[in-house]
Amino acid sequence: MANEIVIDSHNNHISRPTDESQIAAMFDRVAPRYDFLNALLSLKQDRRWRGILVALIPFKPAGSLLDVATGTGDVVFAAMTQRKEYAGFTGVDISEKMLALAGLKSHEQKLADMVQFRQMSAEKLELPDGSFDCVTISFGLRNVVDKEAALKEFSRVLKPKGTLLIMEFFTPRSSVMAKIFDFYFRNILPVIGGLFSDREAYTYLPRSVSGFYSPDQLRGALYRAGFLVNQEVSFLFGACKIIQARRLA
Ligand SMILES: C[S@@+](CC[C@H](N)C(=O)[O-])C[C@H]1O[C@@H](n2cnc3c(N)ncnc32)[C@H](O)[C@@H]1O
Repeated sequence: MANEIVIDSHNNHISRPTDESQIAAMFDRVAPRYDFLNALLSLKQDRRWRGILVALIPFKPAGSLLDVATGTGDVVFAAMTQRKEYAGFTGVDISEKMLALAGLKSHEQKLADMVQFRQMSAEKLELPDGSFDCVTISFGLRNVVDKEAALKEFSRVLKPKGTLLIMEFFTPRSSVMAKIFDFYFRNILPVIGGLFSDREAYTYLPRSVSGFYSPDQLRGALYRAGFLVNQEVSFLFGACKIIQARRLA
């Protein structure tokens, strides 16, 4: 596995995969238990957070929505039920197994006719310029190797003044809360993840959070990619945030 050595907030040297095919392979391994573990590890809050994300999608009759790093498709399915004014839904991801589950769920939920799931990278979207009213990415940007390239791609595929919604984990600002979340991420989550799924993947989560942008750094990266932040919603004392940004022109 190609690894990058980074130093986390505790001065520990940590490594994380930098190779997209290795990241896809890791998500392929966790795919079968992904939904179950999401619900368990978030105490079923993941559903509520996705509902809030989808409520922030701008009102656009006959609009088109792209969900990047869609995983098993839950953001798309929430959007299809909550945002019926939209006409087109596309979900993309690099993991074949995650996408296979998304496809299966679309048939089970009788939504398959209205959604397209396609395998592609956030860094190189094989989609036309200016083709979406809204792009969403939930717990995905942290995993993307070249985040700036991905943000530029989101800007390219959005229509002018289109909306980008990013939901992600961050290190909370309060040092007490940061320690509590760090303890949970490092000591509880990998044990539960390891019991039901791939322990290495659930050890990667805290590493990916400590190596991710701070909220200020993300705002800067968004600006460089041609976005202006409109609104932010925080949960869990700032450990989880939704950032809504508008493509400038
Ligand atoms: C933690 S899951 C999030 C899935 C879903 N959005 C959710 O909210 O449950 C992260 C997803 O990002 C995908 N991913 C990682 N790097 C990617 C990239 N460069 N382009 C597209 N998807 C990527 C993974 O395959 C995985 O399905």
